[in-house]
Amino acid sequence: MKRTLGVCYYPEHWPEAQWEEDAARMAALGLTWVRIGEFAWARMEPVPGRYDWDWLDRAIETLGRHGLKVVLGTPTATPPRWMLDRHPDMLAVDAQGRPRGFGSRRHYDFSHRGYRGDCARIVQAMAERYGRNPHVAAWQTDNEYACHDTVLSYSPAALAAFRDWCAQRYQSTDALNRAWGNVFWSMDYDRFDDIGLPNLTVTEANPAHVMAFRRFASDEVVSFNRLQTEIIRRFSDAPIAHNYMGRITDFDHFDVGADLDIASWDSYPLGFLSDRLEASPEHKRRFLRQGDPDLQAFHHDLYRAVGRGRWWIMEQQPGPVNWAPYNPDPLPGMARLWAWEAFAHGAEAVCYFRWRQAPFAQEQMHAGLLRPDSVPAPAHDEAMTVVQELAGLPDQGTAKADVGLVFDYASAWAWQTQPQGRDFDYFRLVFHIYKGLRRLGLNVDILPPDTADLSAYPLVLAPGVATLSEPLLAALAAHRGQSIIGPRSNAKTVEFATPVPLPPNLPGLDATVMRVESLPPDVPVPLVGGGNLLHWREKVETSGDVLERAEDGFAALIGAGGLHYLAGWPDETALDRILTAACGRAGLQVEMLPEGLRRRDSDTHRFWFNYNPVAVEWAGVTIPAAGVHWVAL
Ligand code: GAL
Repeated sequence: MKRTLGVCYYPEHWPEAQWEEDAARMAALGLTWVRIGEFAWARMEPVPGRYDWDWLDRAIETLGRHGLKVVLGTPTATPPRWMLDRHPDMLAVDAQGRPRGFGSRRHYDFSHRGYRGDCARIVQAMAERYGRNPHVAAWQTDNEYACHDTVLSYSPAALAAFRDWCAQRYQSTDALNRAWGNVFWSMDYDRFDDIGLPNLTVTEANPAHVMAFRRFASDEVVSFNRLQTEIIRRFSDAPIAHNYMGRITDFDHFDVGADLDIASWDSYPLGFLSDRLEASPEHKRRFLRQGDPDLQAFHHDLYRAVGRGRWWIMEQQPGPVNWAPYNPDPLPGMARLWAWEAFAHGAEAVCYFRWRQAPFAQEQMHAGLLRPDSVPAPAHDEAMTVVQELAGLPDQGTAKADVGLVFDYASAWAWQTQPQGRDFDYFRLVFHIYKGLRRLGLNVDILPPDTADLSAYPLVLAPGVATLSEPLLAALAAHRGQSIIGPRSNAKTVEFATPVPLPPNLPGLDATVMRVESLPPDVPVPLVGGGNLLHWREKVETSGDVLERAEDGFAALIGAGGLHYLAGWPDETALDRILTAACGRAGLQVEMLPEGLRRRDSDTHRFWFNYNPVAVEWAGVTIPAAGVHWVAL
């Protein structure tokens, strides 16, 4: 597979006289892709119904003349101001009932049918005009669904659409009342039109109601995206991508991905470390200028799964960003390392965000490959190094992994809906396990929750999956390798009730969770073998083998054959032991890597990435701070 670099560019931000030189410099740098267009609706259609494509024709033609391939973004994340005159009620409404105003971006409600009509119109006009343009080699739908907390809306449009969704799903209010358990506080409905949205209730809303609303909201993103892909495909054969985000679980990315050809994501390692990660102050200090050593890799593996093998970085951090609590400058070398790590995990392309730093508006403090005065910024030369290095290595894909880790968006909603303890966060739990696997140098594939065949994976993990799907349960029953399910797996029915017989109900494993408890972080549950359970523990009755036991006598890890249930959230010490033992039983070789050093195999090479601010001696070489080292396999 050919690996390429690209950049995000906004021709509408710069005088046209500058485009030619910009394109020439991008080509000279060795870039392949230029993503444009995703925020330019007001330039494409300055007044309703009057399109102005001339400037975009010329921009695409200028880039194409220099051999660059265009990723054309649909501009539906930034409806122009006039759109609000057409649809005054198109704004999303927050949980407090306040509309979210004009003046930035993403000011729309996924459920507003009138706005969807205008989206279909602009996408069709673009696809008709550029669908066969030889320089338009890929499409991007919208921009970062869910960014700025925009999936859940409590608007009249959402309410009407939610009632329809409920009517279709449950067919009768009796069925809905039964499914949700509405008898509990006399919450029964007689008509679908009486159903409200689960905000502004006196105390917590029924969790089944909240979960239904979350599923509905996710489905709205899926159908909003599908509206666009269906139109584009009528006029173009170019692949279609969307740029997803880091640690965003508000909609089911696998469902959206089913309508796309490529999954891409926007990787801002320093912003994420500062803004989206639970970690100690020491960890945040140590990795301040490099990012967490596993967070990028996790998303690479996740989006490889969402893209069914095809994935990109659509936006790569090039220097300080503007939006995190603290915005440090990356350590020299990181703009190169991040790109190489993506390629090792199988990325087809890495596009830096953005070409030139904007001297105006919201993101003027956000770095680009060029400074606002067009002088190269440090990442420019690091991108050049990557281009040269790519030319010296054979084309390659990522290696098939030995470990499969299930990731399920509905479980993220489930445990947000009913955390039962402040620290029980689904993403945090799965990422904690992922980090443990990476400390052991393992290659990981993330698996969707309906995976039906596990036979390729000697080791499979499914922590926190609220409801195990039928295909996954059948695959676990047939699995000949090792698997670890839990904590808190198979703990709810699809309609968010407690199943009876009690969880986890795993094929061939006699285990019953009779009680769960959540705990403050300074109250660990010590294990006999060392380390602790933290945040969450379950008390289980079992006749199975007990592989780990708490000091108070309760089983912590139970097994029968290769199938295991983990009855709590292990700390790092306990997790390392549990995973090392599981790998031993699975016949997998592991090596405990030094802090901040990570490993990933492509199908031809083994790569090491040094996220540390200091050099590390490993594999017989010195890997400098922010260094990448590879050897042929
Ligand atoms: C992304 C977004 C870009 C830009 C960038 C800044 O979330 O897609 O348009 O805002 O962040 O880091």
